Amino acid sequence: MIALDLRDAARAHRPALEADPRARASAIATWRGRMINEWSSSRVFGALAAQMERAGAFAARVSEIEAFAEEERTHGVLCGAVVEALGGEARADLPDCPPIPEHTGVDPEVAVLRNVLSICCLSETVAVALIAAERLEMPEGALRDLLTRIWSDEIGHARFGWTLLGEVVPALSPERRAGLAAYVPTALAHLVEHELAHLPATRGTPPGGEALGLCAGEDARALFFDTVEQVIHPRLSELGLVEDTSDGRRVLSDTTGR
Ligand SMILES: [Fe+2]
Ligand SMILES: [Fe+2]
Repeated sequence: MIALDLRDAARAHRPALEADPRARASAIATWRGRMINEWSSSRVFGALAAQMERAGAFAARVSEIEAFAEEERTHGVLCGAVVEALGGEARADLPDCPPIPEHTGVDPEVAVLRNVLSICCLSETVAVALIAAERLEMPEGALRDLLTRIWSDEIGHARFGWTLLGEVVPALSPERRAGLAAYVPTALAHLVEHELAHLPATRGTPPGGEALGLCAGEDARALFFDTVEQVIHPRLSELGLVEDTSDGRRVLSDTTGR
């Protein structure tokens, strides 16, 4: 475990909030969870930048990934700022696990593309959809502005992945493209496992919860699966990385048993 303490940095960014006391405890837990996720994302992008350096592939893009890592650290501080504004403390334990797979045994360029696909095209695209929904439910104000700032960065992270794959995949040799496509079921299975672990199957939110960025877990899960089926799968299909072009739900169920 790594101790994460963002209290000093977070206190400087506390948004002005009016919190319904009935929603306060779950809001603190939710925003602390987001703080941990955002900080973990910064470690993921840091590891991806290092992998790209080692691979010698996409060297011109490394600085963009390093900038994403910095943005994720800022998101962690901003989520911690909401925890502090709600009366909680912006500190937590971070899991001490390797942030990304190495994909030893495949070509280093394909290994990088596998992680870009998993991180930017899958995880970040889902983040864009989930944050968009939370934002829509939130009244105008400092908290919505804070979420908008995070959301716009996540859009950039997702767009990076889809743009890079769109540039690179059509020119890959059949062997390399197959090496990338072979990873898609694993990446989707990891995505489902990760998202369901973070989206409890709860109905409704406590009174005042939506104004604090809480969302009903069941609705978030439904949006997550819609995003995979209606956004992610068709794009992977256009890139020739999944076989079936017509039925995202079937591919998802084949992958996950859902
Ligand atoms: Fe983020
Ligand atoms: Fe992100």
